[in-house]
Amino acid sequence: MFEKIERVPGDAILGLIEAFRKDTNPQKVDLGVGVYRDAQGSTPVMRAVKEAEALLLKNETTKTYIGSHGAPSYGEVVLPLVLGEDSPVLAAGRASVTQSPGGTGALRLAADFVASQLPGKGIWVSDPTWPNHHGIFTAAGIELHKYPYVDADNRLDFNGMLSALKQIPQGDVVVLHACCHNPTGFDLNQQQWQQVLEVVQQRDLLPLVDFAYQGFAEGLDEDAYAVRLLAENLESVLITSSCSKNFGIYNERTGALIVVAKDNEEMENVRSQIAIVARENYSNPPAHGGSIVAEILHSAELEKIWREELTEMRDRINTLRRDFVEALKPYGLDEKYAHIAEQRGMFSYTGLTPEQVDRLRDEFGIYMVRSGRANVAGFSNENLPYIAKAVATVNGK
Ligand code: LMR
Repeated sequence: MFEKIERVPGDAILGLIEAFRKDTNPQKVDLGVGVYRDAQGSTPVMRAVKEAEALLLKNETTKTYIGSHGAPSYGEVVLPLVLGEDSPVLAAGRASVTQSPGGTGALRLAADFVASQLPGKGIWVSDPTWPNHHGIFTAAGIELHKYPYVDADNRLDFNGMLSALKQIPQGDVVVLHACCHNPTGFDLNQQQWQQVLEVVQQRDLLPLVDFAYQGFAEGLDEDAYAVRLLAENLESVLITSSCSKNFGIYNERTGALIVVAKDNEEMENVRSQIAIVARENYSNPPAHGGSIVAEILHSAELEKIWREELTEMRDRINTLRRDFVEALKPYGLDEKYAHIAEQRGMFSYTGLTPEQVDRLRDEFGIYMVRSGRANVAGFSNENLPYIAKAVATVNGK
């Protein structure tokens, strides 16, 4: 039965977890998968999360199904977190929220919804984008296209992006990263988002906004600028949000698909279809992650602790970005890699070539994605000199 089945290489990002684990180099450094790391290199459970879990353990009375859209207590905190407390979209009843198994689950819901309810629409992703976008949209049977995002000098190619968006067939879906672009770390500024909005309006495109890293660039509200701009100025928007990262609950798979529609009536129609898509994929989402988020955001005290912890993570990442460029100074490489201090979020498209990435892994035990994407949260004051020296070596310095 299975004799014709071929073995395929594992996922390029998740495969790094295993490869890193097996490496016996005592100086090894993990700059692979996108999880936050503290100064000790651990991905700790946040204090607010621990306290919320203690409360849940004490007060939980049932493990019954939570329904295809997930727990209302989660949805009602995620909507204002993403769209804003005073969102006119919320006031108008134009937004639906569906809890999902992580941001990835939300993306798959969006993809299946587009494939089944908006057949014939193509989907446009940035080049490069998170590699799993390709897998998810293709698996849903949607035709995938790319628009440029970085130029040959490894800088944001906004003009190239905008010209390409202007050529997208009327009505197609365009995937936009709200902040902390994965894999590059290059984000649009507010003025550039305005320009994107205009093109989206002119071409009547459906934006699918991937919002997996809210709070990791500048702040919870600041990072939501693009999401809110699009939601408040367009009739239809799909938003895939994640709490897996900003609450540090990666393995609880905690995301949401938010659909903004023209009015309440249209929103309810779309919502009914999303419930079917969820049902056919996994029926009900897992509950625990959403319960943690709801517990925290329903408590002023826990929310304060969580916000402080998130700020600490963000500040640490931004400081490390600058420190790394500083550490490259003695090798004369600080200008070449100055963009690392400018990029935002966990990821940096370093500009290191696949061959250099291979050498970093083989000779120094430093792991990152072969595209040259590094998770800068894996930097620490201890390992920065080592990484800088290694990068200098593969640059022939
Ligand atoms: C990443 O890009 O490293 C994260 O989004 C984790 C993943 O699932 O790939």
